Amino acid sequence: MTYNIAVLPGDGIGPEIVEQAVRVLRALPIDLTIQTAPVGGAAYDAHGHPLPDATLALAKQSHAVLFGAVGDWKYDKLERSLRPEQAILGLRKAMGLFANFRPAMLFPELAKASSLKPELVAGLDILILRELTGDIYFGQPRGVREVTEGPFKGEQQGYDTMHYAESEVRRIAHVAFQAAQQRSGRLCSVDKANVLETSQFWRDIVIEVAKEYPDVALSHMYVDNAAMQLIRAPKEFDVIVTGNLFGDILSDTAAMLTGSIGMLPSASLNASSQGLYEPIHGSAPDIAGTGTANPLAAILSAAMLLRYSLNHGELANQVESAVQQVLEQGLRTADLCEEGTAAVSTSEMGDAVLEALK
Ligand code: IPM
Ligand code: MG
Repeated sequence: MTYNIAVLPGDGIGPEIVEQAVRVLRALPIDLTIQTAPVGGAAYDAHGHPLPDATLALAKQSHAVLFGAVGDWKYDKLERSLRPEQAILGLRKAMGLFANFRPAMLFPELAKASSLKPELVAGLDILILRELTGDIYFGQPRGVREVTEGPFKGEQQGYDTMHYAESEVRRIAHVAFQAAQQRSGRLCSVDKANVLETSQFWRDIVIEVAKEYPDVALSHMYVDNAAMQLIRAPKEFDVIVTGNLFGDILSDTAAMLTGSIGMLPSASLNASSQGLYEPIHGSAPDIAGTGTANPLAAILSAAMLLRYSLNHGELANQVESAVQQVLEQGLRTADLCEEGTAAVSTSEMGDAVLEALK
């Protein structure tokens, strides 16, 4: 079997880190057809659109997409539909990538890099499942309009719409319960049901789906409390399932617990296990081209790609242990370095992972 992999490097450090992940994929005993296409600001510069038709077509006909990062301040003045971020939102929507897996694990060697005390985070291993194609991110109507009544009458008003359809909640809930079954059997659903109708509805549906998973212990938490508990006692969580907006925020919070956002991969899957894999860090245009970016999140994203879209869990394990090995050897890119220690470059880190894979 030959697998088609679409590689979309994007902007900023995206190309540099993806290059290392591609080197790792090519070193594995597996048949891959790898094709690259522009996305984000790079695609806007070359083709006038952040997600050109050809790029979307390539992504859709692939088994999996390896994605770098998009965005640069220089595109901030473009109208919204042409901004780099629209590429990732467009890919998620067009490919139906509703289930976003964002693991936050702490490699023991990096416990000191966390902003929390080591004992709070040692051994941290949580999974945030974020719904990715619904919620206020995609809700219509949205825009700017004139207020026609009430105290703000006559003023302009910005507005968005939050909603979740029953089937959208059900399908992410099923993914979450199944993920919990594979792990500790505990699932925490995060919402804002004390205030939002959408959240109360979400909670009611999750409770219904729970009947099909009597072996999973389900709890519920309001999002403000969840943010607090993630900082106070993160190890009390195992799997968290939440909507698109809350998941965006909580997954960055969880990422920071691990010390470096440069370490964390993610997977976004649709109903047929086609997936998009990306590091959760951004394009970091300030360090682009300096060879200092950490490629490990991209390499770990390639491992998730092997596991979830290509069904090669064995190879995924090998890549993950190679990463573990280079950390044990003491190799650190600048983002992970303690003061006074020397950092390795992006490509040196890639070399080391390849060496460890042998
Ligand atoms: C993320 C990012 C995106 C999001 C942006 C770039 C649109 O923050 O993947 O978490 O908000 O989903
Ligand atoms: Mg985000």
